[in-house]
Amino acid sequence: MLSLSYLALTLWTQISFGEPLSLFEATCNNFATQVANSVADTTIFFADTVPTGTNLTFPDQDPSCASTTTSQVVLADMCRVALNVSTSAQSGITMEVWLPRNWTGRFLSTGNGGLGGCIQYVDLAYATALGFATVGSNNGHNGTSGASFYHNPEVLADFAYRSIHTNSVVGKEITKMFYGAPHNTAYYLGCSTGGRQGFKSMQDFPDDFDGILAGSPGINWNSLMSWEDYIYSVLGNASSPTFISNDQWLGLVHQNILKQCDFIDGVVDGIIEDPNLCDYKPEELICSPSSNTSDCLTAEQVRALRLVFSPLYNSNGKLMYPRQQPGSENANYIGEMYGGELIQFSADWFRYAVYNPSFDLSTLNVSDWTHAQELNPFNIETWNGNLSAFRSRGGKMLTYQGQADMIVSPINMELYYAHVERTMSLRPDELDDFLRFFRISGMSHCAEGPGAWEIGQTLPGASGELSEETLSPERNVLTALVKWVEEGVAPNTILGTKYVNDTEELGVQFSRRHCRYPLRNTYNGTGDSIDPDSWFCQ
Ligand SMILES: *[C@@H]1O[C@H](CO)[C@@H](O)[C@H](O)[C@H]1NC(C)=O
Ligand SMILES: *[C@@H]1O[C@H](CO)[C@@H](O)[C@H](O)[C@H]1NC(C)=O
Ligand SMILES: *[C@@H]1O[C@H](CO)[C@@H](O)[C@H](O)[C@H]1NC(C)=O
Ligand SMILES: *[C@@H]1O[C@H](CO)[C@@H](O)[C@H](O)[C@H]1NC(C)=O
Ligand SMILES: *[C@@H]1O[C@H](CO)[C@@H](O)[C@H](O)[C@H]1NC(C)=O
Ligand SMILES: *[C@@H]1O[C@H](CO)[C@@H](O)[C@H](O)[C@H]1NC(C)=O
Ligand SMILES: *[C@@H]1O[C@H](CO)[C@@H](O)[C@H](O)[C@H]1NC(C)=O
Ligand SMILES: *[C@@H]1O[C@H](CO)[C@@H](O)[C@H](O)[C@H]1NC(C)=O
Ligand SMILES: *[C@@H]1O[C@H](CO)[C@@H](O)[C@H](O)[C@H]1NC(C)=O
Ligand SMILES: *[C@@H]1O[C@H](CO)[C@@H](O)[C@H](O)[C@H]1NC(C)=O
Repeated sequence: MLSLSYLALTLWTQISFGEPLSLFEATCNNFATQVANSVADTTIFFADTVPTGTNLTFPDQDPSCASTTTSQVVLADMCRVALNVSTSAQSGITMEVWLPRNWTGRFLSTGNGGLGGCIQYVDLAYATALGFATVGSNNGHNGTSGASFYHNPEVLADFAYRSIHTNSVVGKEITKMFYGAPHNTAYYLGCSTGGRQGFKSMQDFPDDFDGILAGSPGINWNSLMSWEDYIYSVLGNASSPTFISNDQWLGLVHQNILKQCDFIDGVVDGIIEDPNLCDYKPEELICSPSSNTSDCLTAEQVRALRLVFSPLYNSNGKLMYPRQQPGSENANYIGEMYGGELIQFSADWFRYAVYNPSFDLSTLNVSDWTHAQELNPFNIETWNGNLSAFRSRGGKMLTYQGQADMIVSPINMELYYAHVERTMSLRPDELDDFLRFFRISGMSHCAEGPGAWEIGQTLPGASGELSEETLSPERNVLTALVKWVEEGVAPNTILGTKYVNDTEELGVQFSRRHCRYPLRNTYNGTGDSIDPDSWFCQ
């Protein structure tokens, strides 16, 4: 079904059960007892063989996880192991280990999203299809709510750092037990909160992974939570004079931003290649006596817009979080972010990790944001700029950030990059040895948007259909990372793909190479802009 020749060719070892399937099945069926007898602090729920093509459903998962996954088609024969691992007397994680029949000797841990609490089965399916022994967990609690953090520091510790480390330790042990040999190389894949978990591993558990693929990381976490509230406090709700409706955001503000800034990169295509160059001036939208009020905004609304596109400072005048990037307005997120209510994960953070469940969120102000920053439970900030340990053990970090992300400001990753440069006194070409950062133009939060956002970051981001083409390291960040770690050949650019209506069957609309920071993708001025060769990294 899958043509995985790139991965097959570069194997160090391939441990395969071969034919007949029954040997694999027998090993898997006995495995629950074996794990129960030898891995401490665990309860095994089951170990089942699952053939390629099985459509798994997850009746036991928390209902709120349905927003992440309701079912997942399995893309490789595997042994599926589910277990509980206790992390303290008051906490534990629910974990799955997917062990492919055709193992490449590689291990991979997946991450979570938002406030965690949901196993990302689609990522498990993706990596297992590529022959990784793959793990995922519920991050220490079930579901998307933060309620279990309240007066429960052990659960918060799992969320901040311990779950992802436990995945690595226990997952590797189980992998070795199943195949009778340890893994050769260990990887991590995640975005958003999953991105933060990847950075946490790099900073605090540098030995856990040889290669880390971490997108749109929610690092600078405490300030990110406050910034989400800042945006809400600036815009208010539907009865506030500062409120801007979804229709106004998409029909008026977004169009006005494109009018002012889309041409800067030399191509008017709905993509602002580098939004740092966009000095958006919303005053143009203020109604004049002769305007049609459906085509303009009040001075109060425009003042609020100015603030959304300005950085947030704490009560000591220090920068907390960079500005929102103009051009990031996206129909999928506008309701959550600008809809007149504090976005759920930030609301839950303040209720259950900072204050209490009955706290009146409408009163939050800069004093509370500074307080949250100082609280920094279990150093969830994830901002350590000293990556010496990860660098010296030969670790590689490939990070990407959509430039039209409205949930995590794209500038945040640039600030972290500068922080690492300063902390380690390294130039970008020296950082390139172990940390490469790709800015993905026109990509929203981890996926989607008007840009060439399909870069193999997830199964849907690899077109859903795995083939030699979609798995090529030129255009797939996961196989690019494997090549970097195992062959020492690092990616200089990532070729992104945009399908017509994001549907592979409708064909490629255009492709564009994304540059590694601090290089900027630049149009050559004459070529067809949908041809990647018409652009270069400057
Ligand atoms: C898998 O099962 C679910 C639930 O029964 C269903 O909604 C989904 O369409 C199925 N997926 C495929 C690819 O058959
Ligand atoms: C999470 O849900 C699983 C079932 O999917 C259950 O076994 C486990 O005990 C739950 N964990 C917590 C912390 O409630
Ligand atoms: C799994 O772990 C959770 C949290 O520690 C615990 O509440 C639950 O009882 C455990 N379930 C089993 C079946 O061990
Ligand atoms: C296992 O991989 C080999 C080549 O690496 C391939 O020929 C075979 O079809 C694969 N088997 C399965 C069950 O995927
Ligand atoms: C907006 O917020 C105010 C103050 O918190 C509240 O009184 C009002 O009901 C809210 N309006 C809407 C439409 O949510
Ligand atoms: C104002 O603009 C809207 C939409 O563009 C249009 O439907 C409406 O007729 C206009 N009103 C006036 C008074 O021109
Ligand atoms: C923030 O609000 C609290 C009350 O909720 C108030 O005591 C404090 O002075 C306010 N801080 C600022 C900077 O407005
Ligand atoms: C960075 O961390 C290493 C230990 O991993 C330590 O030896 C070194 O002194 C630190 N460097 C700085 C600049 O803090
Ligand atoms: C793409 O989607 C739009 C809006 O959903 C639709 O109008 C258009 O026909 C679609 N194009 C193709 C080629 O399917
Ligand atoms: C721009 O790129 C195109 C390839 O798409 C090439 O044919 C053309 O010569 C290039 N122009 C310049 C000025 O380099």
